[in-house]
Amino acid sequence: MCGIVGAVAKRSVASLLINGLKKLEYRGYDSAGIAVIDAAQQLQRLRVVGKVRELENAMKNTPLMGHTGIAHTRWATHGAPTENNAHPFVSNDDFALVHNGIIENHTALRQQLQEAGYAFHSETDTEVAVHLIHQHYAKSQDLLAAIRETLSQLKGAYALGVISRRHPGRLLVTRQGSPLVIGKGQGENYVASDPLALLSVTQSFIYLEDHDVADISIDNIRIYDKNHQLVTREQHTLSINQDSIERGDYRHFMKKEIMEQPEAMASCLHGRVSEEQVLPAIFGPKSAAIFSKTEHIHFVACGTSYHAALVARYWIETLANIPCTVEVASEFRYREIAPAKNSLFVTLSQSGETADTMAALRLAKGMSYLSTLAICNVAGSSMLRESALHFLTQAGVEIGVASTKAFITQLTALFLFALVLRQSRAMDAKLESELVKQLHQLPRLAQKVLQQDKAVGIWARAFVNKQHAIFLGRNSLYPIALEGALKMKEISYIHAEGYPAGELKHGPLALVDENMPVIATAPGDALLEKNLSNLQEVRARGGKLYVLTDQVHLFHQEAFSDAHVIAMPEMHALLQPILYTIPLQLLAYHVAVLKGTDVDQPRNLAKSVTVE
Ligand code: M6R
Repeated sequence: MCGIVGAVAKRSVASLLINGLKKLEYRGYDSAGIAVIDAAQQLQRLRVVGKVRELENAMKNTPLMGHTGIAHTRWATHGAPTENNAHPFVSNDDFALVHNGIIENHTALRQQLQEAGYAFHSETDTEVAVHLIHQHYAKSQDLLAAIRETLSQLKGAYALGVISRRHPGRLLVTRQGSPLVIGKGQGENYVASDPLALLSVTQSFIYLEDHDVADISIDNIRIYDKNHQLVTREQHTLSINQDSIERGDYRHFMKKEIMEQPEAMASCLHGRVSEEQVLPAIFGPKSAAIFSKTEHIHFVACGTSYHAALVARYWIETLANIPCTVEVASEFRYREIAPAKNSLFVTLSQSGETADTMAALRLAKGMSYLSTLAICNVAGSSMLRESALHFLTQAGVEIGVASTKAFITQLTALFLFALVLRQSRAMDAKLESELVKQLHQLPRLAQKVLQQDKAVGIWARAFVNKQHAIFLGRNSLYPIALEGALKMKEISYIHAEGYPAGELKHGPLALVDENMPVIATAPGDALLEKNLSNLQEVRARGGKLYVLTDQVHLFHQEAFSDAHVIAMPEMHALLQPILYTIPLQLLAYHVAVLKGTDVDQPRNLAKSVTVE
């Protein structure tokens, strides 16, 4: 999604802004732009279609020098990716503005502004905002007041950054529904849609609340709330290691992040489990009282996070006997909801900013849910801040658009959640102790699974020319089949579907022939026999089998002699989803690399989906 960076400094800010944009590239974008106020107090602007390095190249021919500036990467929503549609937008050479989000009532505003004589140069929803600021400023000559007047007319979600040649040392920003953070520096200050953009210049951040307007200069940050009152917002120190946002020797962030999973699991468990027990207050001091009353859990999430919640349903119903509902956020927010009695509303999100999930959370807070819990990977994210209970998954920064280590730590966190809920029911502690011992083994076992990287790479060769693939799983491995298929679609662009293996003969079997690869999870659990029959059904139709199993010997039989098999370590059945995910991530990765797709920034996708 779009990215914003802004700065006011005693030095020229252009290279700082460009470096910030580079750190936001992982979020996905199709054009980029920058505007600064130069020494002659004029706005200078450059915009390009394509990558930030092209903007940087353009700046070699047309250097931009100025102490106040804003920059943007755009992910097209309204209007094609063209230079005219790229941000920053200007009005009458006085104001420049960048925007993330969507202004829903832009059509009516555009008409009104055109009638007032404003000429539009783009097809975007954004351009209305900069002309409105100009229109209001013309009356009051007060920049803050002009921005407030403008905000009162905008409907939708936005984060805005504004500079004006009439106020060279000021940078004004505001947010409503889209993330925006202020970075505090020494004798300079910054803004960005994601703190990662600013890590090379500061680790001190202030998160804005919805409707806040901040007026920022070199030595002052004034924040006004929705009632125009001057307020103080908490300052946070982020201790993110610079290395964690570099690719190092890896060719892609996704591969780095897959390989970091043992470490990510260990960080997620750190300080949360003793030798034999999950520590009870890990979801916050108020959680025990809430969990003891919880009679139902309503999970709401999108994409990969939704798959994590689907796995959690198996765990929670098995381990704590609490009924769960799992729902896609974009469905939840547009239907009539009848919350179950004493239902806990749980959101899952790696970014903590996904627009649909945030909207669902805000709706749920107005309903009769018992309480809200957010499980996220980004400290300070809106979802964590707006939920009563929270849990940080501690995966570390994830740059690849395809979520891998964030998903694995969501699963780890959800397993802890299921065990804490079990404690709240005072159920037999013996199973908990057995499972916690196994949890401690997870990072080591994950490392072992990662050693299959080469074997998975060999499987991948057979997928390069395929158009379709089917992923199968049963029980808590069914959502892992969905996740394996999503990963394959996302980065290799092969059409892939995940199914519960038992559903095969209810439709998808019609697709199976010698051109159809079928990837199956078949651990030696109570459902092994059922799985083997499903795999026979595939084989009988000529389908090519790719199996993950801890029962390799069974596949030496004649019946499966042509199946491709990768050995998985034996572990408790409940923990299998966590480890069986890893080869499926690797498979998608290797297929994508062989196909030459953009692994870390797949087409049409963004890391953090902050628009609907
Ligand atoms: O940040 P979130 O976890 O809320 O994001 C939800 C989805 O957009 C995300 O999981 C998406 O499906 C990923 N690209 C999956 O790899």
